[in-house]
Amino acid sequence: MTKIGDSLDEALNLLRNDEIIAIPTETVYGLAGNAYKPEVVIKIFEIKNRPTFNPLIVHTHSMESSLDFVEKWDKRLLKLAEHYSPGAITFLLPKKDIIPDLVTAGSSRVAVRIPNHSVTLKLLKNLDFPLAAPSANPFGYVSPTSSEHVFQSLNHKIPMILEGGKCSIGIESTIVGIENNELVIYRLGGISQENIEELVGKVSKIHTSSSKPETPGMLIQHYAPKKKLILTNSLPKYVELHNKDRMGIIFFGKPFNKNYPFSNLSESRCLQEAAKNLFQILREIESWEVDYVVMEWIEEKGLGRAVNDRLKRAASSIINF
Ligand code: TXA
Ligand code: MG
Repeated sequence: MTKIGDSLDEALNLLRNDEIIAIPTETVYGLAGNAYKPEVVIKIFEIKNRPTFNPLIVHTHSMESSLDFVEKWDKRLLKLAEHYSPGAITFLLPKKDIIPDLVTAGSSRVAVRIPNHSVTLKLLKNLDFPLAAPSANPFGYVSPTSSEHVFQSLNHKIPMILEGGKCSIGIESTIVGIENNELVIYRLGGISQENIEELVGKVSKIHTSSSKPETPGMLIQHYAPKKKLILTNSLPKYVELHNKDRMGIIFFGKPFNKNYPFSNLSESRCLQEAAKNLFQILREIESWEVDYVVMEWIEEKGLGRAVNDRLKRAASSIINF
C-alpha cells in the first residue's frame, strides 16, 4: 500500500534510491523522480500511463540551481522568474545535455519550475538533482489537489505520497517561452496573463487548447471527469428549459435553485477560490446520482481564464446559450 507521510528523510531516501514518489506543490501534486536518470524518468511515464511524446516539467529550488541544467535564461523570462518564482509559472529554456531527451520528448528546451511550497522546496534543497514531475494523476484524468486525490488513483503504484496539505492555488502552472523572439503563453495557469503582461507588456501569442498540440499535453480533452459535464452561457435559462432532467449543478455565486445536487466553485465569485476548488469538485461530481452536470463559464479574466480553459477540456458538450 502507498504510504501518506510527512517524513522528509523518508522521501529523500526514496528519491535517492531512484524511486518515484508524489510531492505537494502549490498548484497540484506532482509525480516526482530524478530528472537526470532516464531509467527513473521512464517509470514516471509508466505509472501515469502517459505517452512519452509528452514532456515533463523539471523542478528545482532556485534560479541558481536551474543553471545546472539550463543553458541560458532569456531576459524577459528572467524578469518574470525574478518576480513570480518560486511560483505557479514554468519556463521553457534551452537545456544542457545533462537533461535526458526522454524528459523533454526530444526537444532542445526544458520546462523549468520553482514550486512555491515549503515542504517541496526543502526536499529539493536537500537533493543534488532536480525532480522531473508531471501532475500525479493517470494520463487524461483530473489533476490531484490533495494527497487523498493522489492516493485514490495511484495507491500501490508508488511507495509514498509526501503530505503537504491542500494545494493553495489548485490549478497547474502557467507555461511561458520564447518563439521567434516573442513571448508565448503555452498554458494558462496559476500566474495570470494579466500578471505576466504587467511585467513584459501585451502577450499576443497564446498557444493553448488544441487537438494537435504544439506543446503536447495541451490535448483538448485532458482534464476529463468520469461524469458528463455540460457548459452553458446561461445557467438559469438552461435549468429552466431542462427542469425535468436528472442533472447536477456547479454554481459560481449564490445558488438560485437547490432542487438538484449541487456544489459551488465560489459563493462570493472569487476567481482564486474557484481555481482552488475546481479539481476537487470535478472529482466530487462523479459520485452524484445524476445523468450529467451543468455549469456556466466564469469570468474570462485573471485566474478565470485558466479555469475556463480547464472547463473547456473537461466538458463533454458546450451549449451556446
Ligand atoms: O503546476 C504544474 O505545472 C504541475 C506541478 C506538479 O508542477 N505540473 C504539471 O505537469 O502540470 P504536467 O506534466 O501535467 O503538465 C506539463 C505540461 C505538459 O503540457 C507538457 O507538454 C508541457 O508542460 N511541457 C513540459 N516540458 C515541455 C517542453 N520541454 N517543451 C514544451 N512543453 C513542455
Ligand atoms: Mg497534467
